[in-house]
Amino acid sequence: MKRHSGYLEVIAGPMFSGKTEELIRQVKRAAIGKKRVQVFKHKVDTRYGRAKKVYSHAGISFESELIGKSRDIIKNLNPKTEIIAIDEAQWFGDSLVEVVEYLLKKGKKVLVAGLALTFDRQPFIPMPTLMTMADKVTKLSAICTICGDEAVYHKRITKTKIDPYIADPTLVGRLESYEARCRRHFSKP
Ligand code: ADP
Ligand code: TMP
Ligand code: MG
Repeated sequence: MKRHSGYLEVIAGPMFSGKTEELIRQVKRAAIGKKRVQVFKHKVDTRYGRAKKVYSHAGISFESELIGKSRDIIKNLNPKTEIIAIDEAQWFGDSLVEVVEYLLKKGKKVLVAGLALTFDRQPFIPMPTLMTMADKVTKLSAICTICGDEAVYHKRITKTKIDPYIADPTLVGRLESYEARCRRHFSKP
């Protein structure tokens, strides 16, 4: 009997590091290979209206299903799906871990992309746990907007006192609210 042990790749990094582009690259290749793919993203991401797509900052997109919580992945799962890709994983909280474990037990390939750190530079739950469970971790960096070096951080350039771990619509944003920063320029204005 054919056995599947499941496979998890986590794509992590700061904003603008190309996580969504990498996720799209992989699902496009899977589609070329006629694999059955489902892409999910959190519906709090209203950066591109209500479009049922994942979008990169450069405008590349791919069809996706919009969901509000981790268990919606299981609810909407087509049993024939072979590859499940989840973007903006940071908004699903700890409950995503058991959903990913469930999918892996079913022998699925799971791709998870999300922010490694919050805007105040704390590990972004559930990414650290997913990274320890992963068969492969792809850690990306962006380009520092101040000096052009590699940026592993991002800075929120508008003021906020909100809890970064909550999927809060006011934290959703692009270049108007966040900048990629290197270690040296994270704390400088
Ligand atoms: P992520 O999902 O990690 O936020 P995306 O895949 O959506 O990243 O977007 C990556 C693209 O963002 C890059 O290919 C580039 O065109 C654009 N971009 C804008 N600002 C930056 C930056 N500071 N560093 C790198 N890429 C940037
Ligand atoms: P991106 O990684 O595809 O650029 O998207 C990250 C999204 O997460 C963006 O809408 C801003 C949001 N965000 C938070 O909700 N909390 C945070 O702490 C940070 C840094 C970003
Ligand atoms: Mg993205």
